[in-house]
Amino acid sequence: MKMIKKALRTSVIGLALAGLMSAPAHARDFKLGLLTPTNHIWTQAAQNFADELHTSSEGEHKVSVFPSSQLGNEAQMMQMLQSGALDMAFLTLAEVSNRVPDFGILYAPYLAKDVADAGRILKDDPARSMLDQLPVKAGVVGIGYGMGGLRQIVSRGKVETVSDLSGKKIRITPFGPILDFYEAIATAPTPMPLPAVYEALANGQVDAIDMDAELIVKLRYYDHADTILLSNHMMFPMIGLVSNRVWQQLSQPERDDITNMMNKHLLSTIDTYIEKEGDWLEQIRQLDKNVVEVGPEFFGDAISRWETKWSARSNMLEKLRQ
Ligand code: BEZ
Repeated sequence: MKMIKKALRTSVIGLALAGLMSAPAHARDFKLGLLTPTNHIWTQAAQNFADELHTSSEGEHKVSVFPSSQLGNEAQMMQMLQSGALDMAFLTLAEVSNRVPDFGILYAPYLAKDVADAGRILKDDPARSMLDQLPVKAGVVGIGYGMGGLRQIVSRGKVETVSDLSGKKIRITPFGPILDFYEAIATAPTPMPLPAVYEALANGQVDAIDMDAELIVKLRYYDHADTILLSNHMMFPMIGLVSNRVWQQLSQPERDDITNMMNKHLLSTIDTYIEKEGDWLEQIRQLDKNVVEVGPEFFGDAISRWETKWSARSNMLEKLRQ
């Protein structure tokens, strides 16, 4: 009887082990967070990446995409990536430039001559090799960059010279390099996440907003504005990240698949902005508003003051300009 029981136990364990071995070794349900809404170009790229990884792994890997800051703001998502509670995210460079100042240099005013130049900077070295610092300094793996076009200024009231903005409350995306730019032109930069922006401009909580051409058009940020400054003063990179803790659990083929597919869809955002930016700018020019086209001269010596401040934090500016 004892022998029969032992044989049974052995075969049950054997079956369980065989079951485990035939299950996919690394089947994963990854979570990817981002702050943009469902229909935004960044969110669509994230979903396309999720679909491609699911199909190419024959259903083994799934990526659930959480748009609209459903998992928290970018600071919270970064902490979750570091602890391994979140697997992946498409973020602005706010959190990585807080930890690695080199990334702040990508916001140097007029670093990019136009949107195509911005794309070229983000696709090449030295910007790409800056990603190598991230696992050690920020606990995340940087897969590559995407982009959100170039920045413009939408203002209540007439703006003809930069001094018309002096002392004005200008909504900015909450982080250092942008704050420093608006302080350099003597405004009162007001950090505010995207969902609060329309209302804040509508009710006069802010006098102006820093924004990209796509969202000025699609979210009608011009509704409550008198002047739109087409300044193209800064590019707006995005970064695709994987938690370093999660990365360590993946096999090399899994890492290669994630790298290749995520990078492909990040790059697609750059190509989309290069293709469409001209149309959005043209739609803005056609608005019944005071549309003023300005270049670096509009901002006077604010640009060199920004550069002096950031050159003390990072030596990347010269390298990127080359
Ligand atoms: C913004 O804060 O202006 C922004 C953030 C993400 C994508 C586009 C715009």
